[in-house]
Amino acid sequence: MTPYIIQPRPSVADPALSRPDWTKAQPRDPAKLWLDKNENCDPELSRVVTEVMRALPPEAYFTYPDNAPLYAKLADSLELFPEQLVLTAGSDGAIRAVFEAYISPGDVVLHTNPTFAMYSVYSRMYGAKAVALDYQPSDDGPQLLSAQIIEAIAKQRPKLVCLPNPDSPTGTVFPIREMELIIRAAGRVGALILIDEAYFPFHAESCIAWTRRFDHLVVARSTGKAWGLAGLRIGYAAASPEVAKVLHKVRPMYEVNTVAVHAFLRMLDHAGEMMQSVRRLQAGKDLFLSQMARLGYRTLKGQGNFMHVAFAANADKVHAALEPLVYYRRDFNEPCLKGYSRFSATTAQLFQPLIDRIAEVS
Ligand SMILES: Cc1ncc(COP(=O)(O)O)c(C=O)c1O
Repeated sequence: MTPYIIQPRPSVADPALSRPDWTKAQPRDPAKLWLDKNENCDPELSRVVTEVMRALPPEAYFTYPDNAPLYAKLADSLELFPEQLVLTAGSDGAIRAVFEAYISPGDVVLHTNPTFAMYSVYSRMYGAKAVALDYQPSDDGPQLLSAQIIEAIAKQRPKLVCLPNPDSPTGTVFPIREMELIIRAAGRVGALILIDEAYFPFHAESCIAWTRRFDHLVVARSTGKAWGLAGLRIGYAAASPEVAKVLHKVRPMYEVNTVAVHAFLRMLDHAGEMMQSVRRLQAGKDLFLSQMARLGYRTLKGQGNFMHVAFAANADKVHAALEPLVYYRRDFNEPCLKGYSRFSATTAQLFQPLIDRIAEVS
């Protein structure tokens, strides 16, 4: 035994920084529908992905990654320069890279609440002072005004502003005009702003083209939602060439794995099928929401690949009825979503048995 205890960095030693127990995670039952993590389980897109994976050449497995072709093709598809992009392990990797490169202990990080959980985790990990702007409950769902964000930016003078658009789990968005005002407000106080577009193109408005004109803007994108590639852990950040260069400084030796690089490169040829899948999931979402409303339940549509339903007095009955069929998030602690259950979007066909079951017990 070592006669002393080795201490990690103070922000890592902080007991408030804790992560889920990696030995205890329960694998999900393949017999159920998986609508709990906002993945894309559309069978038709899964078929396209499976074909792409089957056709990968042996060098996708036995070589270290050669990423230049993907940088070129992705940049082309986004109408950006390869110098503006950083491939990352999911959009989560892009978010972490921003913290790693820019956040020193004591820096103020402004984010919304509730939001993607890793914003508060990375704030703790890098010793930042996190300032959370709460969504307020209302009959129309979670409410936060862009004016409140702009005011908080001016008052708190953060080093970094983190804003998913759509936000998760709220599903809320700011219109593009207001996004521009928020980005400009961050620029006025010398803050970097990270716009997290994990749910693009379920919500089609994007700030990514503005990375050509704002040097303080980073846009993070996922392949885990629309592209159906959550398991490959590949995403990217887009920024000005200067900021992208900084993010490349903190990348691991190889920023993403070769299998993911080959797969995403080929999937870019299937953007049409990805868009068809997005439309199928949106149609499934519309069906589910309209049927829940018909049964008298309050719903929140939101702009991501997920939606909320409040089963109110029937909640226990509905949860018991759905238990053998589907994984979903039953409830939230946050006041703005209290009483709502969240379902990831799937196809109308896959939603139908759930609708039937809910109708039976309602
Ligand atoms: C808002 C938001 N950002 C980022 C992510 C991370 O996605 P990825 O799988 O690309 O790391 C998620 C995942 O749920 C999310 O909801």
